Amino acid sequence: MRVAKFFNLVAALALFAFVGTATAADPAQPAAVLSNTDCVKCHEQPPKDIAAAGGKHKTEVTCQDCHVGHPPKVKKPIPQCSQCHDGKPHYKLQGCLGCHSNPHTPKNIKFGNNVTDPCLTCHSGQIEQLRTFKSKHTALNCSFCHNVHGRIPECTQCHKPHSNDMGAKDCKVCHQAHKPADVTYKSDTQSKMCAACHGKAFSLLTASTAKHSKLACVYCHQNKHKMVPQCTQCHVKPHPAAIMAKFPKCGECHSIAHDLNRWGDAAAPAPAKPAAKPAAKPAKPAKK
Ligand code: HEC
Ligand code: HEC
Ligand code: HEC
Ligand code: HEC
Ligand code: HEC
Ligand code: HEC
Ligand code: HEC
Ligand code: HEC
Ligand code: HEC
Ligand code: HEC
Ligand code: HEC
Ligand code: HEC
Repeated sequence: MRVAKFFNLVAALALFAFVGTATAADPAQPAAVLSNTDCVKCHEQPPKDIAAAGGKHKTEVTCQDCHVGHPPKVKKPIPQCSQCHDGKPHYKLQGCLGCHSNPHTPKNIKFGNNVTDPCLTCHSGQIEQLRTFKSKHTALNCSFCHNVHGRIPECTQCHKPHSNDMGAKDCKVCHQAHKPADVTYKSDTQSKMCAACHGKAFSLLTASTAKHSKLACVYCHQNKHKMVPQCTQCHVKPHPAAIMAKFPKCGECHSIAHDLNRWGDAAAPAPAKPAAKPAAKPAKPAKK
């Protein structure tokens, strides 16, 4: 068997025969030396991979720095990663080849669906946010969303927008990926975004003829979702103290902020008319 195999190889590979005879011929001759340029003669794929995407495994080490010796003299000339990579938490992970699936292309990284802990050897901010601001994203693995290293998914890959007025890039107006349930927004957020869920407030306000209808939702409901302002935040002492003592609630006369009463209109209630003008005018809105 062994002999037959050997002769097949000799027939097929002149090179192999050459190497074979060179070592066997004369014991007085120095042993033939296997060099890095020889490998490609018999191993096609590893040199190709290294040439294409070897990274530092191409520039900083050679084949034989990793593969010391060769069969049959050395049975399995496969190195441990830890021979050269030591001293960082990342190098204590189990199963390097699980992610660095081909050592000849070390930066081509594949993740399974359920990876979190290994990410934390390099990224810490995201897990802190996920844990501090509990949401349903907290229970997901990092690689559930980032299935290829460095890839950022779009929210709309997994979720529908709240309305047709919204696109994938609008999600960030109110949500952050690692604390999605903590809804905050800036002062330039358009009212139509809120209208996706607050149709009634939106239609009341836009139908109103009072000056509030010119204001954006977030002009009053600032920064954080479910923030509700006091009227007196903007209208400081609008009426004399005596009247306010008698009618402590603005709404008793003005109704709600989204739909202020208009007393110019016919069926007006007859409240005790305030004697003086409001003490302070509110600031002009930043935006129309
Ligand atoms: C003349 C052909 C030839 C050359 C040249 C050659 N190899 Fe090999 N190599 C083989 C063969 C055949 C085997 C399989 C041996 C076995 O399984 O017993 C092998 C096995 C290996 C293995 C072990 C693979 C395993 O799965 O255990 C490694 C690693 C290896 N070679 C690396 C190299 C490197 C690095 C070079 C260049 C420095 C090189 N080889 C040059 C023919 C060659
Ligand atoms: C940084 C270290 C490193 C370098 C550099 C390296 N290898 Fe490897 N090589 C490995 C490891 C680790 C494995 C085992 C992979 C596995 O178990 O899946 C391997 C596997 C192999 C194998 C056997 C499996 C296969 O893919 O055929 C061959 C042959 C091989 N290498 C050849 C080479 C050649 C040729 C070079 C240079 C062009 C080279 N290697 C450079 C680490 C290296
Ligand atoms: C013979 C030494 C040696 C072995 C064995 C080795 N490496 Fe490396 N590796 C290096 C050197 C040297 C560098 C460049 C310096 C650095 O980044 O630490 C490097 C760099 C890397 C890089 C960064 C590549 C880049 O282009 O930035 C990765 C990833 C890597 N190694 C993974 C591995 C894995 C996984 C294994 C085991 C399968 C392994 N190495 C085995 C020597 C080795
Ligand atoms: C869960 C996947 C995963 C596992 C397991 C893993 N790595 Fe990595 N490794 C990565 C990622 C992701 C990078 C970052 C690549 C980049 O910078 O683009 C990386 C980078 C590296 C680097 C280059 C950057 C640096 O910090 O030095 C080396 C070297 C490395 N890994 C070695 C190893 C070794 C050795 C093991 C096993 C002890 C291992 N890796 C296990 C995912 C993994
Ligand atoms: C060995 C260290 C290392 C490991 C492990 C690692 N990363 Fe990275 N990661 C990096 C480096 C370095 C960068 C590039 C940083 C940059 O460009 O700001 C990066 C970039 C990223 C980016 C893109 C950042 C951006 O701003 O575009 C994401 C997303 C990412 N990693 C997620 C992950 C996830 C998820 C895991 C685990 C499955 C992981 N990383 C494991 C080192 C690592
Ligand atoms: C890869 C899929 C995926 C991506 C990408 C993704 N999510 Fe999620 N998200 C989920 C899953 C799964 C849940 C949990 C659903 C459930 O249990 O009902 C969830 C839940 C949520 C929740 C509810 C949180 C809670 O605690 O009630 C919000 C809000 C959310 N996602 C917003 C976003 C936003 C915004 C983005 C983009 C920055 C995004 N998601 C990206 C999969 C994803
Ligand atoms: C629900 C999906 C989802 C999960 C789970 C998730 N991310 Fe992200 N991640 C994203 C999205 C979407 C972005 C883009 C955020 C942006 O553009 O503002 C992102 C951005 C990043 C970035 C780039 C820098 C930054 O913070 O914006 C890194 C690094 C990152 N994620 C790492 C992680 C790590 C590590 C984990 C696990 C602890 C994780 N991610 C869990 C969806 C997710
Ligand atoms: C104008 C602010 C705003 C924008 C823009 C926004 N969201 Fe939301 N989203 C919210 C609020 C507020 C909630 C919480 C509702 C609650 O308390 O039930 C929410 C809840 C969610 C939820 C939890 C399940 C649900 O439907 O109640 C998901 C998922 C979600 N948003 C995804 C998205 C995605 C994807 C986008 C981008 C297309 C997006 N959001 C854009 C404000 C916004
Ligand atoms: C994804 C749907 C969604 C979006 C988008 C959304 N909200 Fe809400 N909002 C809700 C839900 C659900 C509630 C709770 C209703 C309840 O408790 O009856 C709520 C409650 C509120 C409340 C009432 C809080 C209270 O204590 O009564 C205010 C104010 C509010 N939202 C303002 C806004 C503003 C301003 C925007 C736009 C920046 C917005 N919302 C966008 C779903 C949404
Ligand atoms: C965040 C600031 C803010 C809050 C909160 C607010 N308003 Fe106003 N209000 C304004 C601005 C701005 C105007 C327009 C002033 C102008 O153009 O002269 C206004 C106008 C008015 C007017 C005059 C309407 C008109 O059409 O002439 C009344 C009445 C009024 N507000 C009552 C209220 C009441 C009652 C509340 C509470 C339910 C309230 N406001 C809450 C900012 C606010
Ligand atoms: C002038 C300030 C102002 C503006 C502009 C405004 N709100 Fe309000 N909103 C209030 C005040 C004040 C309350 C508390 C109830 C009251 O006294 O009218 C309130 C209550 C609410 C509530 C809870 C009660 C309810 O009516 O459901 C929601 C939801 C809400 N606003 C959403 C919105 C949305 C969406 C917009 C934009 C279309 C908006 N608001 C514009 C001041 C404002
Ligand atoms: C007893 C009934 C009553 C109460 C209570 C009341 N108001 Fe008025 N308010 C009025 C009347 C009447 C006017 C004058 C309307 C007009 O001129 O069209 C007025 C006018 C205003 C104006 C408009 C001033 C201008 O220059 O156009 C503001 C702002 C205002 N009120 C805010 C408030 C606030 C805030 C509260 C609660 C702290 C409040 N009001 C409580 C009856 C009331």
